[in-house]
Amino acid sequence: MSEPADRVAALEAYHREEVAGCIRCALSRTRTQVVVGSGRLDADVMFVGEAPGYHEDVQGMPFVGQSGKLLTRLIEGIGLRREDVFIANVLKCRPPGNRDPQPAEISACEPHLFRQVALVRPRVVCTLGNFATKLLSGRPDGISRVHGHELPIEIGGQPVLLYPLFHPAAALYTRAMLTTLEADFARIPELVARAAPSSAPAPPAPPPAVPAREPDPAAQPVHAGAGVPASASAEQLGLF
Ligand code: URA
Repeated sequence: MSEPADRVAALEAYHREEVAGCIRCALSRTRTQVVVGSGRLDADVMFVGEAPGYHEDVQGMPFVGQSGKLLTRLIEGIGLRREDVFIANVLKCRPPGNRDPQPAEISACEPHLFRQVALVRPRVVCTLGNFATKLLSGRPDGISRVHGHELPIEIGGQPVLLYPLFHPAAALYTRAMLTTLEADFARIPELVARAAPSSAPAPPAPPPAVPAREPDPAAQPVHAGAGVPASASAEQLGLF
């Protein structure tokens, strides 16, 4: 399936049939709605955050809170619109209280992200913050070390240029971080131009879900989502 129109139709069907009503993990019992993703289904650039926060859970759209407003501004700063890119999260449902995603939730949800990458077929995947970066790079290096350094990898069978960026929530706290984030964003057009369009076929749909373990109710640290308490520092949020 290499025609963009076929991939768009396949992704719409996948979102409708597999993601929108997903009950693969216990977050399905606490979410308001699944935050599937938004934007162009055949975009050259994809942004991957951590998980929906309060506002995303209510509105059903990724990055619509404070950090989302900044993300939109950064996207527009490089001459694109939100509608030109695809925006998703590692987790499609909000963890209660914006706590960190748990291993069972990640393994239940990551096939959705891999399928999205396989069908959107972006040239550049920008990971926002430590969490998405470590997951998609498969490496332990923190975002402070790797931000702004592109890395050719495969995601969901798809060759992409992984481009780690600080999470926009971190730049809400620190002016210097915003300057760095803007500088890293400025390289995105060059990376898109450099990354060759792929012709690899999308892999087959993932196998049926295995029920996830219950999350540990004792673990309640906040995550890098919208709606984080104003008192939480960026470091506490694991943003750098
Ligand atoms: N933070 C994230 O990581 N994702 C969102 O959708 C919103 C805030």
